[in-house]
Amino acid sequence: MSIQAHARARAAADRLRSRTGVDSYTAAVILGSGWGPAADALGASGVELDVTQLPGFAEPTALGHRGVVRSVPGHRGELLVFLGRTHLYEDHEVDTVVHSVRTAIAAGADTIVLTNAAGTLDPALEPGRLALVSDHINLTGRSPVVGPRFVDLTDAYSAELRALAREVDPSLPEAVYAAVPGPHFETPAEIRMLRVLGADLVGMSTVMETIAARELGARVLALSLVTNLAAGLAPGPVRHDEVLAVGRAAAGDVGVLLADVLKKI
Ligand code: 6GU
Repeated sequence: MSIQAHARARAAADRLRSRTGVDSYTAAVILGSGWGPAADALGASGVELDVTQLPGFAEPTALGHRGVVRSVPGHRGELLVFLGRTHLYEDHEVDTVVHSVRTAIAAGADTIVLTNAAGTLDPALEPGRLALVSDHINLTGRSPVVGPRFVDLTDAYSAELRALAREVDPSLPEAVYAAVPGPHFETPAEIRMLRVLGADLVGMSTVMETIAARELGARVLALSLVTNLAAGLAPGPVRHDEVLAVGRAAAGDVGVLLADVLKKI
């Protein structure tokens, strides 16, 4: 992280604290595509701000994403819930994509919960199900880390947090998430390639935020909502409106699970 990015995260955290009146946060949740309706299960009380009121944030442009952050009470202390995120495919800098994670950590959070919608490469991992990300393959060609800082990613997705999530739902499968830049979906040949590489899921988010969180020493839990079969696994095309519709249909269950997991971490 550059000195400038660090300063922007501190400035955003300061503004956030002055707007919410909360001194320090314990954890942050970032709700991705289709996860918006789960937000209310995390508590609708507390202060809600447009992220653009904080320095360094971009207005999300992706359909299904709101640019809002809520401050809600959690069991260990106050939580930040970001409704919506920015993606590399919106033509933002990596620093902008990971700014919510850095802001949350600058405001005291030691745990980052990332959620996303993903296509599945494994027919046994069906649309509508949730999976715990156990590892990733970063195919974006990008990194939030700058300079000679050799951040270890061996346990990027905390085994301890995954175990806590499985206490809530022992049937949660683990999956390797391949991150691509998008915004186009893959070809069937690319999906076959990703399968050979060891991926179970494919999506366009999460990994920049995970790496940024690990650089700063925060723990990461990532949950994928499987929204569709990847290209070539289903007879029809891959459609973004389908991705969002599966998200809406699963929202209730997913919100309850997320709220229960947050009570443990
Ligand atoms: Cl099939 N691919 C990518 N890259 N992202 C997705 C997806 C597929 N389904 C949901 N998000």
